[in-house]
Amino acid sequence: MVDIVPLSSYPSYIDLLPSIQTCNITNLPENYFLKYYLYHALTWPQLSFVAIVRPKGGYKAGTGRGAAGDVSGQYPKVVGYVLAKMEEEPTDGKQHGHITSLSVMRTHRRLGIAERLMRMSQRAMAESHRANYVSLHVRVSNTAALRLYRDTLGFEVEKVEDKYYADGENAYAMRLDLTGQWMDWKAIEARDRENEKNDDDAQDEGEEVGELGKKDDAKDQERMVKVKIGRALGVGDLVEKNESQQ
Ligand SMILES: CC(C)(COP(=O)(O)OP(=O)(O)OC[C@H]1O[C@@H](n2cnc3c(N)ncnc32)[C@H](O)[C@@H]1OP(=O)(O)O)[C@@H](O)C(=O)NCCC(=O)NCCS
Repeated sequence: MVDIVPLSSYPSYIDLLPSIQTCNITNLPENYFLKYYLYHALTWPQLSFVAIVRPKGGYKAGTGRGAAGDVSGQYPKVVGYVLAKMEEEPTDGKQHGHITSLSVMRTHRRLGIAERLMRMSQRAMAESHRANYVSLHVRVSNTAALRLYRDTLGFEVEKVEDKYYADGENAYAMRLDLTGQWMDWKAIEARDRENEKNDDDAQDEGEEVGELGKKDDAKDQERMVKVKIGRALGVGDLVEKNESQQ
């Protein structure tokens, strides 16, 4: 089974960066230093995703780096990735995302992995960064990628960039609007407030159950222990005071 996980989730998949780099080198002529992958993972941790296949029989304790029981040093297999970022200095002044690189190993193509990687990254751009749109470049000869972007995902060609690639090939600059995927935080907060209010209003209408359910004031008093919290515990000294009001 192929799992798609965020690159920088917990537990961290940052260990997989060299395998992601291998996946890139195997499939594309546009390659990057390892630190460029790391820069993406650290700066925009929500936006990059990796498709992995875990070992069939699970991780084998005792075959890892160190002592028995150590499963570190055993990694899932990387079969695809999407490396994405937010444009740092958008020329049009609009906050937007950018797909730096996408690839899926030949053994795992046409299974919908690239589509899933792209959709997850796009959603994260919209939800975490309120990106207006996502942009990317693709070789004019790359039919597979072009069909994925245009026909499956709905990207539009913005312009053709002459000799964009090092070997002189032109690129389509493409983009997809993401504003429709923004979260309506005001509505979400209003709903949360409403749910809280309903919880507070909810009454326990059930009968007392057995002896444990019975109210016994004397016993309750006995069991009650006063616990100091907040300022009484000395936290007050750590709280910034407005001296001018004293
Ligand atoms: C392009 C690439 C990432 C697609 O990965 P994938 O996981 O096989 O793509 P998916 O299975 O998600 O395909 C989704 C859709 O894209 C289109 N598509 C994908 N591969 C295609 C191909 N070889 N020919 C035509 N259309 C293709 C199809 O419309 C497909 O939907 P369908 O399978 O229902 O017909 C993969 O071929 C690849 O890694 N290529 C080399 C690297 C590359 O070109 N990266 C993009 C750089 S811009």
